[in-house]
Amino acid sequence: MKKLLVTGASGLLGLNLALKAVESGWDVTGWSGRRALARVPFSAQQVDLLDLAGISARVADLAPDLIIHCAALADIDKAEQHPALAEKLNAQAPEELARAARTCGAQLVHISTDAVFDGISGDYRETDEPNPINVYARTKLAGERAVSAVYPQAVIARVNFYGWSPTGQRSLAEFFYTHLRSEQTVNGFTDVFFSPLYVGHLAGLLLKIAELRLEGLYHVFSPQATSKYAFGVSVARLFGLDESLINPTALKEIQTGTPRSLNLSMNTDKLQAALGEALPGEAEGLQAFYADWQNGLPDRLIAAIA
Ligand SMILES: NC(=O)c1ccc[n+]([C@@H]2O[C@H](COP(=O)([O-])OP(=O)(O)OC[C@H]3O[C@@H](n4cnc5c(N)ncnc54)[C@H](OP(=O)(O)O)[C@@H]3O)[C@@H](O)[C@H]2O)c1
Repeated sequence: MKKLLVTGASGLLGLNLALKAVESGWDVTGWSGRRALARVPFSAQQVDLLDLAGISARVADLAPDLIIHCAALADIDKAEQHPALAEKLNAQAPEELARAARTCGAQLVHISTDAVFDGISGDYRETDEPNPINVYARTKLAGERAVSAVYPQAVIARVNFYGWSPTGQRSLAEFFYTHLRSEQTVNGFTDVFFSPLYVGHLAGLLLKIAELRLEGLYHVFSPQATSKYAFGVSVARLFGLDESLINPTALKEIQTGTPRSLNLSMNTDKLQAALGEALPGEAEGLQAFYADWQNGLPDRLIAAIA
C-alpha cells in the first residue's frame, strides 16, 4: 500500500482529502496542528509546522510516497494581522517540506490559491502573472515560488473549494446553509466571482494528478465561475431555504479592512487537457455536497476533532 502524508488534516480540505484517500486505498498519515484528531480511519499526529527545523526528520521517518500539503494560515484577516506568522507558515514551511520531499523521493502536491491574482481581469490561466493584493496572497505566492525552486517536479495546485468542515463554518456554502437555516439575513456579493470545486471532487482530482505524475503549476477549479450571490442562491435552492434572505450586495461599495480580489474566475483548460476529461461543474458539485449532507458527513467531520 502506498503511503500518503496529508498536512492540515484537521482542516476543511485536509480532512476531506484524507478520508477520500483512505477510501481510494492509500495508507494515510494525517498531520494536524493545534487540533487533535480522533475516530478517524487513518494515522493522526499533531505536528507543529512552525518548528521548521523538525520537518525533514519527521518526513524522513515516515518515508511517504506522496505528500499533499494542505496546512496553511488560510484565514485572510488573520494573515493580514500576523504577517510574520503568515510568512513562516505559508512560505517557509512549504519550502522545508519541499526540501524534505525531494530528499526522500516523495512526490509533492502543494496547495495554493486563486488569491495570488488581483481579480481585475478574471479567467486566469497558469501563464498569467500573479499580482497579490494582501498578506495571505503574497505569502502563498512566496510559498509557490519557494516550492518550485527547491523541487521543480512538485505540483503547485491553485484551488478554491467548498464543503463540509470539522468546524461546521469554514466554507462559504456552510455559511449560507447555516445562516439561512436559522432564518438570518446575509449579504451575497454580486461583484465577487470565483470558481469553487466541491471539496470531495477536489480531493479526487488531487489524487488523480499525483497518480498521473503531473508536474508543475495547475489550476484546479470548477470550469464554471459564479458570483458569491448566485452561489448563495444555489445553496438556498438545494436545501429548500429562503433565498430572499440573501441581500445582493456589491463588495466594492462596502469593502473595508483586508483587500480582496473581485474577479477570481479561473481557466482550467490546462488541467482538462492533461486529464483528458471535463472537470465537474457547479451542479455536479452541489449535488455531491447535498448527497454528503444526506449521508451524515457533516456530523462525522465534527466528531473527528477530539
Ligand atoms: N478554503 C478555501 O476556500 C481556500 C481557497 C483557496 C486556497 N485554499 C488553500 O487550501 C489549503 C487548505 O485550506 P483549508 O480551508 O482547508 O484550511 P483550514 O480549514 O483553515 O485548515 C488549515 C489547516 O492548517 C493547519 N495548521 C495551521 N497552522 C499549523 C501549524 N503551525 N502546524 C501544523 N498545522 C497547522 C490547521 O491545523 P490546526 O487547526 O489543527 O491547528 C488546519 O489543519 C490552504 O493551503 C489554503 O491556503 C483554501
